[in-house]
Amino acid sequence: MEVKTSLLDNMIGVGDMVLLEPLSEDSFLDNLRKRFDHNEIYTYIGSVVISMNPYRSLPIYTPDKVEEYRNRNFYELSPHIYALADEAYRSLRDQDKDQCILITGESGAGKTEASKLVMSYVAAVCGKGQEVNKVKEQLLQSNPVLEAFGNAKTVRNDNSSRFGKYMDIEFDFKGDPLGGVISNYLLEKSRVVKQPRGERNFHIFYQLLSGASDDTLKQLKLDRDFSKYNYLSLDSAVVNGLDDAANFRTVRNAMQIVGFMEDEVQSVLELVAAVLKLGNIEFKPESRCNGTDESRIKDKNDLKEMCELLGIEQSVLERAFSYRTVEAKMEKVSTTLNVSQAYYARDALAKNLYSRLFTWLVSRINESIKAQAKTRHKVMGVLDIYGFEIFEDNSFEQFIINYCNEKLQQIFIELTLREEQEEYVREGIEWTNIEYFNNAIICDLIENNQNGILAMLDEECLRPGTVTDETFLDKLNTICAEHQHFESRLSKNSKFLTDHSLPHNCFRIQHYAGKVLYRVEGFVDKNNDLLYRDLSQAMYKANHSLIKQLFPEGNPAKVNLKRPLTAGSQFKTSVGTLMKNLQTKNPNYIRCIKPNDKKASHIFTDSLVRHQVRYLGLMENVRVRRAGYAFRQAYEPCLERYKMLCKKTWPHWRGPAREGVEVLMADLQVPAEEFSYGRSKIFIRNPRTLFFLEERRRQCLQDLATLIQKIYRGWKCRSQFLLLKQSQIVVAAWYRRFAQQKKYQNIKSATTVVQSYTRGWQARKLLRELKYQKRCEEAVTTIAAFWHGTQVRREYRKFFRANAGKKIYDFTIQRIMQKYFLGLKTTLPSMSPIDKNWPARPYRFLDGVHTELRRIFHLWRCKKYRGQFTEERKAVYEEKLEASEIFKDKKALYPSSVSQPFKGDYLEISKNPKYQKLNSAVDEKVLLADVVNKINRANGKGTARIFLLTKKSVVLADQKTGQVKASVPLPDVASVSVSTQSDGFFALKLKEGSASAVKGDFLLSSEHLIEIITKLHRIGVTAADREQLNIDISDEFLVQFKQDKVCVKFIQGGPKNGSGVSCKRKNNRLLEVSVPTTA
Ligand SMILES: Nc1ncnc2c1ncn2[C@@H]1O[C@H](COP(=O)(O)OP(=O)(O)O)[C@@H](O)[C@H]1O
Ligand SMILES: [Mg+2]
Repeated sequence: MEVKTSLLDNMIGVGDMVLLEPLSEDSFLDNLRKRFDHNEIYTYIGSVVISMNPYRSLPIYTPDKVEEYRNRNFYELSPHIYALADEAYRSLRDQDKDQCILITGESGAGKTEASKLVMSYVAAVCGKGQEVNKVKEQLLQSNPVLEAFGNAKTVRNDNSSRFGKYMDIEFDFKGDPLGGVISNYLLEKSRVVKQPRGERNFHIFYQLLSGASDDTLKQLKLDRDFSKYNYLSLDSAVVNGLDDAANFRTVRNAMQIVGFMEDEVQSVLELVAAVLKLGNIEFKPESRCNGTDESRIKDKNDLKEMCELLGIEQSVLERAFSYRTVEAKMEKVSTTLNVSQAYYARDALAKNLYSRLFTWLVSRINESIKAQAKTRHKVMGVLDIYGFEIFEDNSFEQFIINYCNEKLQQIFIELTLREEQEEYVREGIEWTNIEYFNNAIICDLIENNQNGILAMLDEECLRPGTVTDETFLDKLNTICAEHQHFESRLSKNSKFLTDHSLPHNCFRIQHYAGKVLYRVEGFVDKNNDLLYRDLSQAMYKANHSLIKQLFPEGNPAKVNLKRPLTAGSQFKTSVGTLMKNLQTKNPNYIRCIKPNDKKASHIFTDSLVRHQVRYLGLMENVRVRRAGYAFRQAYEPCLERYKMLCKKTWPHWRGPAREGVEVLMADLQVPAEEFSYGRSKIFIRNPRTLFFLEERRRQCLQDLATLIQKIYRGWKCRSQFLLLKQSQIVVAAWYRRFAQQKKYQNIKSATTVVQSYTRGWQARKLLRELKYQKRCEEAVTTIAAFWHGTQVRREYRKFFRANAGKKIYDFTIQRIMQKYFLGLKTTLPSMSPIDKNWPARPYRFLDGVHTELRRIFHLWRCKKYRGQFTEERKAVYEEKLEASEIFKDKKALYPSSVSQPFKGDYLEISKNPKYQKLNSAVDEKVLLADVVNKINRANGKGTARIFLLTKKSVVLADQKTGQVKASVPLPDVASVSVSTQSDGFFALKLKEGSASAVKGDFLLSSEHLIEIITKLHRIGVTAADREQLNIDISDEFLVQFKQDKVCVKFIQGGPKNGSGVSCKRKNNRLLEVSVPTTA
């Protein structure tokens, strides 16, 4: 059967170097170049992935690609980092093997990118769900945070990791991520205070200054201008393709997602700002009397701001920069610092601040991303450590970095080359040994506990007496002189004495990846990593929670006189732990190669790649792979996996597993050279064979699945059919019963209908006959009754009384009336004419009688009442009656007069001696005496006058003197005019031509107008010699004043307070009286 593999299809060069023919370094490079030119950046050596940095983004990391590689066999598709990630993930999930992904290569070769690709692939293919997604997101977002603080632009790489990172991602049994743990290795902290030419400080400084808001910067007391800060190198502050401002936002966002609190972010930024400030603190010498120079801070502003940021007392820090306290055996000695020592202290503080902040960040992230569940979990470790570095000027950091890379190479050799070969021997497989360079000897040169370089450096650092970098180099020169990978000008090994490429203050190590020249300057200091205790104590005193946490040794309560571990030995220990950890896991290798030194795409520098291929030992790798076997598996699992491919082994093989596998292989006719039988394992030479087996197995599984499906379907259909059949019988039985029942019911109801019709017809017929019979009988009875009635009436007519009904009616009415009248006698109201009571009527038909009786009764009781009057009272009432006849409903003043008795003589004229003279002037009996107002025709004002009325005349007299002013005989009065309103004005109009008329008419006003007019009128009525007095009631009348006629007009004015009626002369002919409206 032909095995279709995409790895082999459309292949550019060969996808797997194992297939390279002929195998030589040139053909290896050609293949790499060819593939690189066609954008094929990944190539396999067996299961190892070689990755060439394309230095540009390729469209091969899309979600579609993820889907393509998901759950596919490693060799099935063209080489890709996703294939490796998928293989690792699946073997973790399905075979329960912890994995580690080891990514190696030079700085800038693409390790960090590769690690991110692996992580994103795993995140894309593993489980989904809210909780899981949160974990994934946090794991992925930890990258930007750590990159901002731990990466920097170097000459090799714009985003070079300046720390080592190993991340364990933890999964549960389903393969869902639970969390992770990040370990960091030695941050290159010297970068904080000084950067080589063309390089930058850590990204975060630039990101903060370009990306933070103005407010934030102000809060942090920072300025946006990079050039203000001594610690920031300026020549490459802006990097092409790096948007610091945008990255700052990404970092802040990532910090939030990872779970940093807002105040934690703030503290972190404050620390970053403090480091920048610290760099700006400068010192100047100040001579002391003992001749030494002591350092003083030049400009205290930066110090002040930094102290404010971190909540440190300025004087404490200032002192820590000027003095150093050494404690030894209960003794404290304080020495002053000179300027260079002060600078050293400043830089040490900055480096420590920053590197401790970085370590804190890592542990803070770990706190967020650590797996919550305590259950057993599987682990996938991703190692992205700084790559092998060769700079112009290599120092302690490069030494450490390169040592780490040596160790990684070592583990690669251990696991791929040596282990593999040893296994063949162990398994008794025929094997020709392959030569490869084992770098264990270089590792030993560096890390050997007795005479390794690190051990000697430590020894030098701990030694009493003056220790300098030179004494350290001397020591190396004596001890390592014989080592074949160590070179130094002054070593005992005379062959370098004339080597001018080797300066005196340097030593050179032949690393597996090339020779590196290290300058010893700074080795001792950097290894010591000394921070003066005064500084750490000053930091501990800070009123800033984070700083305090970062400098626990500053706590005076915990003074520890023991020296802290040196940087070198710390690193050695942590690398040792890492290596042990990696060895327990199933390794997956990604070997990154840099195609050129210019960070440029499309350039393939032969020599550079050749060098990398060489030192990475890739050729040996291919050789071992080719000479060896691509795949091996213990017999039991192998038989278990493939036994279905052969009838003899399927379903059970009774004999030993190895024999089973032999039978199986023979049956499958796999060529003998394709595999070997080891002691406990079968070795398969070619991936293709394995793939062939896998393919057969897949097909067989499909056939088996089909078989199972077939049997299951048959069984399912059969049982379904039986069930249907049984059901059908039940349904049919029920249906038949139902149909019969229905038919029977139909017939039954039809019969009933027919029956009922017949019965109805018969009954109706009978009814008709009976009805006829009954009618005949009734007719007979009626006729008989009428006839009898006539007979009886005829006989008894004489005995009937025709008017009995009327009589009874009359009698009843009479009785009712009788009762009514008798009743009325007892219920009659009182005799007072004003009593309005009257009993209720008992019957409606008595309505008319009842009201008439009431009227009669009232008249009768009025008559009775009047009968009691004396003559005088009678006259008074007559007068009142007359007043009512004259004025009722005509003049508004009238109603108010009704209740007032007509007194007549208001002045008591006959009794009052004051009016004696007046009394004597009037000979008649005075009918009325009152004070009136005579209206002056000129101005309408009134003058008080006594008004007397006798049977014969009207007299007007002066009120004070009683002198008669005018006396008018009543016959001369023609008429009286009054208004309709509530005023007391009246005009006495005199007959024309009479003697009194000479002076003209009188216009008077009185409170007793009604009485006056009524009495005037009465006199007219009773006097026989005169005609009746005319009374004219209208609101406008004419008054004759001497010659002129004046019109008096009454108008209704608004109701006026108090004053009442007012009279005004309007013009010659008009006198206007305004009368208040009666409310
Ligand atoms: N697979 C890739 N696709 C595109 N560009 C890449 C890829 N790998 C690396 N690079 C480019 O190379 C630069 C350096 O890669 P990086 O992973 O930081 O190197 P290292 O970590 O090995 O020092 C990246 O910034 C990126 O521009
Ligand atoms: Mg990196």
